[in-house]
Amino acid sequence: MALELTAEHKMLMALANKAQKNAHAPYSNFHVGAAILDENAQLHASCNVENAAYPLGQCAEAGAISAMVASGSKKIKQILIASPNDDFCPPCGGCRQKIAEFADTQTEVHMATKTGEIKTVKFTELLPLAFGFDKN
Ligand code: THU
Repeated sequence: MALELTAEHKMLMALANKAQKNAHAPYSNFHVGAAILDENAQLHASCNVENAAYPLGQCAEAGAISAMVASGSKKIKQILIASPNDDFCPPCGGCRQKIAEFADTQTEVHMATKTGEIKTVKFTELLPLAFGFDKN
């Protein structure tokens, strides 16, 4: 059964999709967008930015987190990751740790497919016993 999309889902998805269009992913050709709703109800988004020196590439989530922190916020209420295809794109291990830095037990992670299907999990389901996560 399709999940009823909330206004927050729709805003996050629109912003993530907009950033995703600007992804710099000439090496993987896997374009990802991410958007965050922070504790001040502000939105932040980014895309993946790859590099010819492959390990220097940055995930979409990391860019969105940087934008949030630069704006003065330190709490992720919701984060949505927009996949370029019909599969959900769960955050990589490194990004889970980056999200942990600014998450709490209520933080939600939404994963959206290209067609707008959304799966939502609590952050704590993605990275149980996270290092440095003292909000358990
Ligand atoms: N990528 C993201 O931006 N976010 C994810 O959650 C998974 C993977 C990027 C990294 C790389 O630029 C490309 O997708 C292929 O792995």
